Amino acid sequence: MTVMDFMVKENVRHGDNHALLRLSPMKGKMPEVMPGQFVQVDVPGCRETFLRRPISINYADQRELWLLIRRSGVGTNKLCDLPQGTILNIMLPLGRGFTLDVSGNVLLVGGGVGVAPLLMLGKRFVARGIDVKFLLGARTSSEVLQLDLFRQTGETHVATDDGSLCHHGLVSTHPLLQTDIQHIACCGPLPMMKAVAAIARERGINCEVSLENRMACGVGACLCCVEDTLDEGNVCVCKQGPVFNIERLKWT
Ligand SMILES: Cc1cc2nc3c(=O)[nH]c(=O)nc-3n(C[C@H](O)[C@H](O)[C@H](O)COP(=O)(O)OP(=O)(O)OC[C@H]3O[C@@H](n4cnc5c(N)ncnc54)[C@H](O)[C@@H]3O)c2cc1C
Ligand code: FES
Repeated sequence: MTVMDFMVKENVRHGDNHALLRLSPMKGKMPEVMPGQFVQVDVPGCRETFLRRPISINYADQRELWLLIRRSGVGTNKLCDLPQGTILNIMLPLGRGFTLDVSGNVLLVGGGVGVAPLLMLGKRFVARGIDVKFLLGARTSSEVLQLDLFRQTGETHVATDDGSLCHHGLVSTHPLLQTDIQHIACCGPLPMMKAVAAIARERGINCEVSLENRMACGVGACLCCVEDTLDEGNVCVCKQGPVFNIERLKWT
């Protein structure tokens, strides 16, 4: 883990509620990151947000780090409005990412801003010769994020709650989940991940989910992000996760 300054190269708005921050390191090399890992961002010039905010790594290479952000409160509002040229202090990479060593038909399921870690994951799978399909869910068509980038990476299906684009209904009701799948990676709102996990369990599909428990330190020191697991009891999501195999979770 390292702490680095990044400059906002570009702030690309996605409708009223989301923004993509394209950041470049001020100096030094980007550390190697794994899909599913996250960063802790110090929100600049914001007295109310004493604590850093956890944000998934949307994409990273030697020169750039992308963060996809949804307005949820004081800190994320501020991040969504950052002008080009702002310097951001960021701790990275944190946590454990998704398993890359998988086989068979792979489906990546994302809901809302939970699609963020799945773009880089999909690209890594494709680079390993694994054929992936994406299933992206959102409330309405304007909130389906990075659709073009997902389509460039693999076959992409969409579900919208209001039926304004593609399948009408929650992602968990999409027929793709009933097809021949051996592995699912999922990130999104908790009820959506639980519904996908229930389908995976019922159908005997290996499934990993990325938890978004509230965090403070992000490095396993404050214990505020604990999740009760079947194999190890209470574990810190920031250290042992955020990605967990559903077999470890006490989800019914
Ligand atoms: C591992 C991880 C990865 C994440 N990745 C992303 C991402 O890629 N993009 C993104 O936009 N958001 C992401 N989040 C959620 C993001 O961290 C929270 O939305 C943010 O911390 C809220 O801060 P705020 O100052 O805007 O809100 P606050 O003003 O502090 O709170 C506003 C509301 O947000 C809720 N909230 C606070 N923290 C969380 C949380 N961890 N999860 C859900 N709700 C929360 C509060 O309960 C409250 O209702 C991630 C969270 C985790 C733990
Ligand atoms: S956020 Fe402090 S232990 Fe996880």
